[in-house]
Amino acid sequence: MIATDQPIDIRMTTASRIQEVDWSNLGFGRVFSDHMCVIRYENGKWHTPGIEPYGPLHFSPAISALHYGQAIFEGLKAYRNEHNEVYIFRPDMNARRLNHSARRMCMPELPEEVFLDTLKALVHLDRNWVPGSPGSALYIRPHMFATDEYVGVRPSESYLFVIFTCPVDRYYTGEVKVKIETHYSRAVRGGTGEAKAAGNYGAALLPARIGQQEGYNQLLWTDAISHEFIEESGTMNVMFRSGNTLFTPMITDSILSGVTRDSVLTLAREWGMVVEERRVRADELVGMISNGELDEAFGAGTAATIAPIRTIHYQGTDYSLPPSSGWTFCNRLSSYLDRLRHGLEPDTRGWNLRIA
Ligand SMILES: Cc1ncc(COP(=O)(O)O)c(C=O)c1O
Repeated sequence: MIATDQPIDIRMTTASRIQEVDWSNLGFGRVFSDHMCVIRYENGKWHTPGIEPYGPLHFSPAISALHYGQAIFEGLKAYRNEHNEVYIFRPDMNARRLNHSARRMCMPELPEEVFLDTLKALVHLDRNWVPGSPGSALYIRPHMFATDEYVGVRPSESYLFVIFTCPVDRYYTGEVKVKIETHYSRAVRGGTGEAKAAGNYGAALLPARIGQQEGYNQLLWTDAISHEFIEESGTMNVMFRSGNTLFTPMITDSILSGVTRDSVLTLAREWGMVVEERRVRADELVGMISNGELDEAFGAGTAATIAPIRTIHYQGTDYSLPPSSGWTFCNRLSSYLDRLRHGLEPDTRGWNLRIA
């Protein structure tokens, strides 16, 4: 067993489902590994972490998460390399962001070492579920939700923190088409966009579906007041390259601060690019595409990885970039991150946590 400082009650499955998995057809988020981690918060403290067989949880229909939306989550990945080693990419960032979300949603913080130790123990136990084929990974979904059986709007006094994992393929394959959304909003200044709160995603479903019916994979959200400034996409931050400059919307309280975003900006700086975190106007962006000044556009996120954005729709017009096969930065970035996550580049920044 991997060394961990936390006492963890481990109850292992007696009937592993791993033989039933069709590894050549994983998709995303449909296959669940054998175990999950559950930690209960009650009487003002977190109780002993447990690892148990993955399966249904039992609770009342009156739990406050279902009614008043105290529910937050994280998303990160473990990778297997060709030497059969398993790494988790930058889990400390997710531990910190979970607590950032918890503070915004008036939920208790989980000590980072508890997050990391239980995560390590769970992934180690289910290490055979980490796929190794190119583009695949073990997606890890930590989440926390309010469990008070009480009808009334107030912060819950009890919570569950749960982690389950899913072997997954890529989320997107190929280039994506996005629509700049100028009617609906995902988040507003002073709201909860900076938190990875479940409700943010629920609110985005209808506009995203409308965009999909119009032929776009994702929306590019704009600020909720003027709809003139680009914020982010549904599950990824967005970045743009013009010559040696990489620019991206600066983080505000209506944008999720992505781990992938941070990794990309760090690499771009190390590779000698000019990095601008600033306000990005929608009309500036499409103007740059029209003038041939924009070289690359892409989304960056754990699930999406690096997703080249070939077409951007704005106010009735599609603006397209040349094929992404020639995008030097995106391609260098994708292959570098891929190699690093699989332990094939020297981990000079301490981003990989080795599990097995
Ligand atoms: C709204 C939103 N923005 C950005 C991201 C990218 O964040 P990360 O790189 O940490 O996955 C995600 C994915 O978690 C997201 O849901």
